[in-house]
Amino acid sequence: MDKIRIEGGSPLIGRIPVSGAKNAALSLMIASLLTDEPFHLENVPELTDIAILSQVLEALGVSVERSERRLALHAGEIRSATAPYPLVSKMRAAFWVIAPLLARRGEARVSLPGGDPIGLRPVNLYLQGLEKMGAEMTLEGGYIVGKARKGLRGAKLNMPLVSVGATQTLLMAAALASGETVIANAAMEPEIVCLAETLIQMGAKIKGVGTRRLVVEGRAEGLRGATCHVPPDRIEAGTYAAAAAMTGGSLLLEKAPVRQMEKPLACLKAMGAALEETEKGLRVSRDARAPLRPCQITTSPYPGFPTDLQAQFMALMTIANGASTMTETVFENRFLHVAELARFGASIAISEHSAHIRGVSGLTGAEVMATDLRASASLILAALAAKGSSVINRIYHLDRGFEKIEEKLSGCGARIWRER
Ligand code: UD1
Repeated sequence: MDKIRIEGGSPLIGRIPVSGAKNAALSLMIASLLTDEPFHLENVPELTDIAILSQVLEALGVSVERSERRLALHAGEIRSATAPYPLVSKMRAAFWVIAPLLARRGEARVSLPGGDPIGLRPVNLYLQGLEKMGAEMTLEGGYIVGKARKGLRGAKLNMPLVSVGATQTLLMAAALASGETVIANAAMEPEIVCLAETLIQMGAKIKGVGTRRLVVEGRAEGLRGATCHVPPDRIEAGTYAAAAAMTGGSLLLEKAPVRQMEKPLACLKAMGAALEETEKGLRVSRDARAPLRPCQITTSPYPGFPTDLQAQFMALMTIANGASTMTETVFENRFLHVAELARFGASIAISEHSAHIRGVSGLTGAEVMATDLRASASLILAALAAKGSSVINRIYHLDRGFEKIEEKLSGCGARIWRER
């Protein structure tokens, strides 16, 4: 299994191009199943999750052709309604194919999903929504089996909690349903806006895009193909912004989606980083002689502080001058990185949903293990800032969501190597 070795302690200085957003690309790829016309994606990052989802789509009969950063998808005919366990168990978003399968084939057999071990992550909201839209849903041998022989119909869906995946799935179902669907208490992450805009390009009528209430006029007769550009990744940009602040460096994050990063950037500023928006992107820097200030952060759905940056910002808090708190409200088990950060010398105590971090004057290199995708990034940050040598094991998590991470960091002065 690959590992990453880092000789830490030097500031990151240079520029990093921000890649296309993984989460936006995944839902757009699934939207290709909604039409029998060709569907093109540009600026697609090269990541394991994209490759796995491509395999899921191929298993359903979609033709998938990749050339550099473009993906040409064509679901002319959906030959199979089964999304198999060996693939869906590797990533959660693959489960979302359930909506287009039900809408176009009237049937779906999709394995219960896998993904990061950050909580129970049930699928009850997806099932309740699809049932209200006329599908019959059962569990058979670890697979969710859905039937909607007469197609899906519009419904009033009141989401009991804000879910990104359930909102995207039900939005796709609604786009091909007959009649009007209202999704109340919808998630409003930028990835949902991106999906909604694509569905509109495909012929769906959607009101309330970017708000908590989406109203969809479905097009049961079919949707058109589309061409879309995957927007830059706010989580990747936020991770490198934290890395610049943590190492006392200066990074120009090219094409960083600044408007979507309001909360994390406000936290970085409060902690003492300097931010400058330029024509090319966002420059984040910190004078290494001035210590970081502590900060209190609570994660919550967008526009709140993203849970996907929680681990990285906790790494930053470990070397702030004082006591910080990180409260996680989205997932119930997202503190697996705490034990690993402690190996670098971080001082962190957990009580219920909060981590209390007492800043230390510096971290020292250590051998650690990546536990999930975003947690892996927090360990990279800690290792970059630590004095001495670190080894990060199980970095396959990292390859799921951070494109060319060693290349991007070594281009800015990091001493980082992959060992196979
Ligand atoms: C998506 C993102 C992930 C991000 C998360 C929250 C993708 C591919 N993944 O994950 O990176 O961390 O949003 O911003 O875009 N829940 C239920 N029942 C359900 C569905 C969800 O109880 O049927 C709960 C979850 O357990 C969790 C909360 O809702 O506690 C929010 O999860 P959700 O927004 O659905 O996250 P994902 O879509 O899985």
